[in-house]
Parts: sequence; structure tokens; C-alpha cells
Amino acid sequence: MREGSATLIRREDYLAPAFWIRTVDLTFDLEPAKTLVTSKMQIERNSAVPHGPLRLHGEELNLLRVLINGDSVSFRQEGHELIIEGAPDADFTLEIRNSCAPEKNTSLSGLYTSGGSFFTQCEAEGFRRITYFLDRPDVMAVYSVHLRADKAKYPVLLSNGNLLEAGELDNGRHFAKWHDPFPKPSYLFALVAGDLVAREQRIRTRAGKDHLLQVFVRRGDLEKTEHAMNSLIASIVWDEARFKLPLDLERFMVVGVSDFNMGAMENKGLNIFNTSALLASPATATDADFHRIESIVAHEYFHNWTGNRVTCRDWFQLSLKEGLTVFRDQEFSMDMAATPSARAVCRIQDVRQLRAMQFPEDSGAMAHPVRPDSYVEINNFYTATVYDKGSEVVRMYQTLVGRAGFEAGMKLYFERHDGQAVTCDDFAQAIADANPGSALTTRLDAFKRWYSQAGTPHLQARGSYDAEARTYTLTLKQSTPATPGQADKLPQVIPVALGLLTHEGQALPLQLQGEAAAAGTERVLVLDQAEQSFVFVEVASAPVPSLLRGFSAPVVLDDGLSDAELLTLLKHDSDAFNRWEASQRLALNRILAAVRSGAPLVLDAAYIEAMRAVLRHAELDAAFKELALTLPGEAYIAEQLDVVDPQAIHAAVEAARLQLAQALATDWAEAYEAHQVKAGYAPDPVQSGRRALANLALAMLVLNATQSGDSVWPGRAYQRFKDAGNMTDRLGALSALVAAHAELAEPALARFHALFKGDELVIDKWFALQGRTPELDGKSFARVKQLMQHPDFTLKNPNRARSLIFSLCMFNPAAFHRKDAAGYVFWAEQVLALDAINPQIASRLARVMDRWTVLAEPYRSAAREAIARVAAKADLSNDVREIVERALA
Ligand code: PHE
Ligand code: ZN
Repeated sequence: MREGSATLIRREDYLAPAFWIRTVDLTFDLEPAKTLVTSKMQIERNSAVPHGPLRLHGEELNLLRVLINGDSVSFRQEGHELIIEGAPDADFTLEIRNSCAPEKNTSLSGLYTSGGSFFTQCEAEGFRRITYFLDRPDVMAVYSVHLRADKAKYPVLLSNGNLLEAGELDNGRHFAKWHDPFPKPSYLFALVAGDLVAREQRIRTRAGKDHLLQVFVRRGDLEKTEHAMNSLIASIVWDEARFKLPLDLERFMVVGVSDFNMGAMENKGLNIFNTSALLASPATATDADFHRIESIVAHEYFHNWTGNRVTCRDWFQLSLKEGLTVFRDQEFSMDMAATPSARAVCRIQDVRQLRAMQFPEDSGAMAHPVRPDSYVEINNFYTATVYDKGSEVVRMYQTLVGRAGFEAGMKLYFERHDGQAVTCDDFAQAIADANPGSALTTRLDAFKRWYSQAGTPHLQARGSYDAEARTYTLTLKQSTPATPGQADKLPQVIPVALGLLTHEGQALPLQLQGEAAAAGTERVLVLDQAEQSFVFVEVASAPVPSLLRGFSAPVVLDDGLSDAELLTLLKHDSDAFNRWEASQRLALNRILAAVRSGAPLVLDAAYIEAMRAVLRHAELDAAFKELALTLPGEAYIAEQLDVVDPQAIHAAVEAARLQLAQALATDWAEAYEAHQVKAGYAPDPVQSGRRALANLALAMLVLNATQSGDSVWPGRAYQRFKDAGNMTDRLGALSALVAAHAELAEPALARFHALFKGDELVIDKWFALQGRTPELDGKSFARVKQLMQHPDFTLKNPNRARSLIFSLCMFNPAAFHRKDAAGYVFWAEQVLALDAINPQIASRLARVMDRWTVLAEPYRSAAREAIARVAAKADLSNDVREIVERALA
């Protein structure tokens, strides 16, 4: 049974804690069924707030004793709180003893077991599931941790900070004592105990300090940790070089665990990773996996400063650490990419992700500002908005104050706030104060609307050229749609990076009215009104505007450009992002026209020739070509429509794909041959770009062949699948067969399973591939239901649940949205089944229905019915209840 009730927590109700916990000594007697925890805390009253009782958080705990200054004291338990009325005014020691049951903890929050080892996850509010505490990020304490456990079963005992002592105990047990000198909030606490092995590396940083880096994994996984270790070293080097932020610990540990709710966690000095975000070998991980691991290792490492040294005052400030740290990991990935083109590829991938995940969030039932105003369950706010839109907000600071100005702002932020728990306002103020007179500083209050207003702003741009006056007037208008609880929005500060091209593609010098001379061929206009016009002078001919270069703001742009103008940008824009964007807009226009009219999609020669030109282009690199030739995602297409018929969108996209496959068949074949990688495997941008394009080409060739009944390309794909020297090629060939519903898909899937039996991360790919297979006559949906019965399937492991269920419900719209509503019935069943095991995962799945109100009938009514069925369940978790209630509101 669930205890406690669903209360709405409001940002404006923030109160500082009534007590500070200065130090905490924790002792753990680790047993899977029952772990004993003793906590000794040095506590003092916070004189700045009204006198009141000491209220500690605690959930799913068994309380054994409470002592103040060594004496028993009266207390009461109410819901999830332990209340002590008689806490002294003078500083005191509080000793608490309790037990918890790690083995029974399937929520993976707090202390739990996975594969016979112990792990913790404390963000956001997991520490209260370990012991009673002021489990809030503004209470920062110095931790000493004493671990005791069976030595044979748990030879490795880890916690945050430095190892002080370790040794033997009676009865085959042993101990380790750890001390973390940095005061930290409880959400950064971690312990690990188990039979693990480590890859180790000693490094000396620029500052001349020596450090020990360790990556702990299960026996047998050690060879798969080299990439993570290299990524960690690269992250350390980068943060020192770019932001002058050094590693502050003698020892930095990373641990992999198979059962984990998220990607990874930045616990001080002891990062804990989902194995899917850590382990890689060429034979088992794709280029995309290598890339993702590098960015997550970097992300968690960067949190050591942005999150740990300076943390959040309260959970409403989550984007303070997450938006900033995503921005930092994106910048890192771009810097690692080295060439301008590879940098652009990174940016395109990040924007594609933002549009696929955050834009729909911002226009659905869960729309919320980067800094939310209220929540029921904070776990529901680890969102694309807080992370990815938050990162775009940080990027806009950098755009407005320049790279050097941003670095100066970061320096001031750490000078002011190192060791503190602060707010997004503190960050904004530091960046602004370090850049007096800048485009940011003069508009700071308006800029901060990015934190308070939900919804994606729409930016309309229209230009008019006056040939006689040689002027070009660009009129920009903005508006942000209403979102739940926010009817009216004020204008935001939108940096618009732009260039003007002649119709032949030459860059024009940019001189605004009133300026003495042109300032280059690219610049940033700052829109801060609902509508503003900018007049460019000395413009020799009617220009084609290239707006929002590099995606300089997270908005929806309506530039009204014609096909001819988009084709000019696709051919000539010096901004690779906008060149890609032109390719997507050309495709989108055609797909939307077909969906809106209901007529079958027929691709015109102009579009096909433009795509052929991209594919055959002598200078563009393969990674860019692959992105430009990939059609927009179905979720992004749905975003452009007021009424969404997922089947119509899918049909239009499939038609476009097939026609591209047919019309460019010889070009795809040439591209496939020309982009084989002969050198030994490396997941670098050049090789992975070539593999990506070869895989796209192969998918197109197999699709075309399957439609025409030709067996040559399916045969070649099968051969490649069998002989592939790495997972990227193997999975690429397998996907080509499966996506085309080729006959050889079945034997290939069976062979793949046999080959990788027992490698859980690869078996996840096997499930995911089938869950995402484009629908054909209901076969994909039927297969998912059948795979739910597969002996390898389990709901208990989040990666496995995601690989099958989320693949269907989140990433396979045509299989999920069925006229007979069977997809929604399945969704409701799985949300309820998961909720009994792991509310956080259940709630993620529940979010699939965020945008149900825009669905066309019969989907809309059926979706509402399914959501209502979930909402009617009596003892739902707060996590799922908040999502379904917001959906139905
Ligand atoms: N703070 C983690 C990150 O973004 C994410 C996370 C949140 C992990 C909550 C677990 C639980 O790096
Ligand atoms: Zn993070």
C-alpha cells in the first residue's frame, strides 16, 4: 500500500530548513534482506527561520531507535516524516538507527540490489529510503561512511570521497571507511558493495596533481570499459582547458549497474552508470552507443562542478545543474568532433532530439517552464524541458555575451557560489554581472522569461526588398502559445543569428540602417519585442535570408521561404545547420501537403534531384549527407499539425521513403560501395559518418528490392549481417532487413539472438529493433505482444522494459495508434504492471499519452478511455497519478 498523499509543492512556498546537518557518520551492515543503518548527525538550528520541530524525511524504513546527545527522546511518525518536538536550541547530536530491505526494493531508488551487489540511487529523494534525514538539496553535510559486509560476496566496498581504512572482521566479514571532505546534499550520497573489478588509470593533470581513475564493472565486462575511461580522461582535460575547472578529488570512481532508472548519476566522486551508458566494444556497441557513452561520461563528470560544487537550493532549480551540464556536454562533444562539419553534425543531432522530445512536451499536457512552478512528484520533472531546453537557454547566454563573456560569467559564478546551494537567478546574475552593457545584461529581466514561460515561441519572419533604395526590411514577430496554467505570454529575448544570400548563393555584407559600415556576413539580431523590423542597407539584390543559424534559439521558425529559396540554402548556405534544415523543410512541406490533403504523396522531380545532388555531392561529408537524406521524424511532423492522424503521417513518410529508394536506386548503390570503411574500427566522426551513410543506403536498397521482388540486395544485406566486423554494420544490415519486412529478416533475427545470447545490452537491441519495426498489417504490434512472453523479457529491468514496450509506445506510432485501440489497452496494462514494480519507469511510459488531445478520431476517444482506466486505479503511485491527472485536466 502506498502511504502519504499527493500534495502539490510550490516554488513560491520555499522556506529555508529549520535545522542544518553539518556532519553525518553512517554505518551500514549490509545484508540483502535487511540492512542496518546507523546515522550520527551533528545538527544545529537555523536561527534565520522561526523556531519549530525537527522534521526528518523517511520512507519504507523500519525505525529502531532515536537518541539526542546520547539520550532517548520522544518523537512521532506522521506519513513520511519523523517529528521531534523537543530538539535542543544548542547544537546537538542525533543518532538514528533503522533498517531497510534492499532486496525488495524494485523501485531502484534508495538502497537496492542488482545482480547480487548493492547500489544506491539518491537523486532526487532516495536518501530518505535509506535513513531519516533532511533530504533536501540545501542541507549540505560532510559524510563519513563505514561499510560492513560479507567479504566473499562483496569484496569491493565503495562510497564517496577518500578511502581512510579497510580491514577484516569476524565471520568472514570486512569493512571499509570512507570520508568525503566536500559538504554535499544527500542526493549526492552513494555506496556500492559487490563483486566488481576495475580498470584503473593514474593521471597527472595540468595543475600537476595526481589522480586515480577507476571504472568498476562486473567480472567479464572489463574489456568494455576502455572507451568510458578514455572519455573520462578527455572530459577532465577539456574542463580544465575550456573552463579552468580541475578535478578536485584524488580518486574518481565510475561504477556500472544493469538495473538503473536513468542514464547515470553524478554522486560525488562515485558516479553510478547504467551499463548501457558505460560499456562498449566494437562487436557489441554501435557508433551511436560510443558517442552516447562519451557524452554521458562527460556529463556526469562535468556535474562535479556544475551540480556538486555548486548545487541547487531546491528542486525547482533543477535546470541550474541539468541545463548547464547538458550545455557543457554538448560543447564538449562539439569540441571533440574537431572539424566544422563534424561540429555541425553534433548540433543537428542535438536539435533533432530537442524537436522530437522537448517540442511535443512543450505543447502537451505536461508543458512546464524550464524552472517549474509546482510539482507533485519531482521525478516527473527530469524532463526534456529541464535538460534540453534548459541547455538551449544556457546556449543563448553564450550567444548573447560571446564565448569569452560566457567563460568570464562562469568564473564569477564559481567565485560567488562555490560550496553553496543556489538558484537559476544566481546563475543569470553572475553571467550578466560579468558582462556589463551586453545584449544580455541590458535585458536580463526579459531574458529570464525563458525560465518562467512554458511553450515553444513561434517566430515569424518576413522580408521585403526595395530595389530602388537597395534596402531589405526583415520583420520579426513572436508569440508563444498558451500552455496549461499560462494563458498569456510576454515577448521573450530571442537571438536570431542570420546571413543573407544572393539567389546565386553568395553571402551579402550585413549593414543595418544607421551603421557606418557592414559588419561581416553573419550577425545576431536580438528580438525582444512582440514585433520588430530590421532594415539592412546597401543590399545589392533581393536576398534569400538564412535565419536562426545554428538554431540560435529554441523556437519554431516560420520564414515563409519558397521551395526555390530553400533549394538555394540547401546548395549554398555557409551555415551547415541551415543547409540541413533546408533539406528537412523541403521534405516536411511535401509530407504535410499529402497529410493535409489526404492525397497520396508523389515526390516531384525538383526534390528528388536536390536529394540526388546531396547524395552525389563531391565535398559534403557522409555524416551530413546521411542527416540531410533522412526524413523528418514522425513525432516532429505531428508537431506541425493541429489534428494528428498518426497513420496518415506514417503512410506519407513511408511513401516518401520508398520513392527516394526507387528514384535514387543507382545512387544509393554507388554510395553504399563508396562508403565502405576499410580501416580498423574507430568510432570517430569520419568513420561513423561513412557507416551511417552506407547503412542508410543499404536500407534504401533493401526496401526497394523487397518492393520489386528482387533478392540481390536482401541477400547482400544478409551476408553483410553475417560477416560484419562491428555492431554498427551488423545492426545496420539487420535493421535494413527487418524494416523492409524482408524474408531474410527472420533467420537474421534468430541468428542475432543466438550469437549474443547472454549479452544483455545486445539483447536489448534485439528487442528494441523488433519493437520499432515499421508497422505492416498489424504484424509489428502482434510481435511485440508475443515477445512479452519471451523468456528473456522482464519488466523488472528498466532497460529491457524500455527496449520492448517503450520502443512500441514511444517510437513506433503506426504500430501503437491502432483503430481498434489495442495499442492503448496494452499501454494501460503495462503502465499499471510497471507501477507496481517501479513508479518512475511507469510514469515515463504514462507520458506517451501527453498529446492525446490533438489526436484525430477514433484515436482521441480511445486514448482518453485508456488514460481514464489508469487514473481509476486506486493505489497508483504519485508519479503516475500526476501524469494521468494532468493529461485528463
Ligand atoms: N542527475 C542525473 C543526470 O542527469 C540524472 C538522474 C536523475 C539519475 C535522477 C538518477 C535519478 O546526470
Ligand atoms: Zn545531469
